[in-house]
Amino acid sequence: MISQCYCTIMTEKDIDTVLSIEKRVFKHPWSREFFHLIVSDMHNCMLTLRTDAGVIGYGGYHLLKNRTSFLSTRHQYDRMIHLINIAIAPQEQHNGFGTFLMNTLIRRARASKAEYCYLEVRPTNENAFSFYRKWGFSIIGIIENYYPHECENALVMGSELYLPSP
Ligand SMILES: CC(C)(COP(=O)(O)OP(=O)(O)OC[C@H]1O[C@@H](n2cnc3c(N)ncnc32)[C@H](O)[C@@H]1OP(=O)(O)O)[C@@H](O)C(=O)NCCC(=O)NCCS
Repeated sequence: MISQCYCTIMTEKDIDTVLSIEKRVFKHPWSREFFHLIVSDMHNCMLTLRTDAGVIGYGGYHLLKNRTSFLSTRHQYDRMIHLINIAIAPQEQHNGFGTFLMNTLIRRARASKAEYCYLEVRPTNENAFSFYRKWGFSIIGIIENYYPHECENALVMGSELYLPSP
């Protein structure tokens, strides 16, 4: 059972805390400047996840309104989202908070009429891969050398957005 938590829209004021989590969970964290950029883009939905203790996670997506089709699904989507980041502070991971945050993001995306979600993940990031699989995401492609520091490819995973919470 997770303790009481809720999501709010990420603002400039959250960036310090978000950065401190980002630096602890990712080997190559996004820069402060990049967070400023994504928070100010009106096509992005960036959320922070909070408990009484403050911000313990964050995540967000970019809403695309370009009609898109995938050979694997044979469907056309008028709106879709690109999940650009999701992270829970290390000490809070595997307690259901990521699920809560993902649920909120997907509900918001559905409210914006998004039909599909895709994302990139490192094949070595087993926790995230297992998290996305649990949400019904499957591998739809590979981007070579997406993470150039380690010469690591990205798995592109996608799912239609009619998912019930796992
Ligand atoms: C991926 C992440 C956001 C998931 O959030 P979370 O709060 O840890 O996830 P939840 O507690 O809701 O767990 C849901 C599922 O995720 C997977 N998972 C999460 N943490 C895991 C761990 N430490 N070990 C194994 N599986 C894990 C499991 O499939 C889990 O289901 P289960 O509870 O039935 O085992 C979080 O682990 C994280 O911040 N990781 C570091 C940042 C990152 O890699 N982000 C993704 C970039 S692509």
